Amino acid sequence: MAHPPLAPMIPLADGRAIPQVGYGMYKVPRTDATRLARTAIELGYRHLDTAALYGNEAEAGAAVRECGLPRDEVFVTSKVWNDDHGYDRTLRAFDAAMRAFGLDRLDLYLIHWPVPSRDRYVDTWRALVRLREEGRVSSIGVSNFHAHHLERIIDATGVAPVVNQVELHPWLPQHELRAEHERLGIRTEAWSPLARGRLLGDPVLEPIAAKHGRSVAQIVLAWHVRQGTIVIPKASSPERIAENLDVFSFDLDDADVAVIATLESGVRTGRDPDHD
Ligand SMILES: NC(=O)c1ccc[n+]([C@@H]2O[C@H](COP(=O)([O-])OP(=O)(O)OC[C@H]3O[C@@H](n4cnc5c(N)ncnc54)[C@H](OP(=O)(O)O)[C@@H]3O)[C@@H](O)[C@H]2O)c1
Repeated sequence: MAHPPLAPMIPLADGRAIPQVGYGMYKVPRTDATRLARTAIELGYRHLDTAALYGNEAEAGAAVRECGLPRDEVFVTSKVWNDDHGYDRTLRAFDAAMRAFGLDRLDLYLIHWPVPSRDRYVDTWRALVRLREEGRVSSIGVSNFHAHHLERIIDATGVAPVVNQVELHPWLPQHELRAEHERLGIRTEAWSPLARGRLLGDPVLEPIAAKHGRSVAQIVLAWHVRQGTIVIPKASSPERIAENLDVFSFDLDDADVAVIATLESGVRTGRDPDHD
């Protein structure tokens, strides 16, 4: 099937690389998940983002096993959920995840949230370090970590995550955290890159979309990718899934970027990682 060019590969600090655009699977119902993940792969995606929480690891794994591509050509991310923090529980959760996937290796495993109220994330991180040393996961990272959470796991283990997957979009551009990532060699990955679709009706973005003959979603995703951010938009139709990958064949200009910068408000669509 004809599809947009594959997304560029972003190098990670551990020598691996991740496709810059992935298919986000939060709230993709289990009944649709294998079909939609396979559609994404057919349309040129080479990266799926799921999690134990999403309840569709088995379906994501089936899409990877059935798609006809060699295992190494599709990058699969999952995340250990908040209830499974701690060294032993995390190792058991990983085993359960891999049984669900039906795969013998994962590309990237993340701590989903730091959950500071339970204060187990350092032990959870130690378990991820072990899984990587055993070769059961190629790369390890975190999600929803503030700078002080990053500092703590690095101080405790000497191992930095290669990715921090955080809420990031024009309302919440995360300037300070990105600078910290830069200093530590951590790649920034944006979850809810379209602010769960809520950004798409913003009248400020319409003229930019019209100027480039693109959709508003493509303008927002182009804003992300020009900064080197990894994005994992979720969509439910083949048309939208294809559109969201087709963001490398045009360039925003400085005037567009200046207009998008005016959208910064600090508004989160999810919770603050320190408040759970
Ligand atoms: N680590 C974390 O804590 C965390 C938290 C949240 C999300 N995530 C990850 O990030 C991924 C994406 O986040 P998200 O799903 O919350 O939000 P999102 O990708 O920012 O937005 C998804 C919404 O935008 C709509 N949409 C997508 N593409 C569109 C297009 N081209 N035109 C019009 N509407 C479009 C979708 O509609 P339809 O579905 O109806 O097409 C859906 O309602 C998740 O799937 C998950 O993998 C991670």
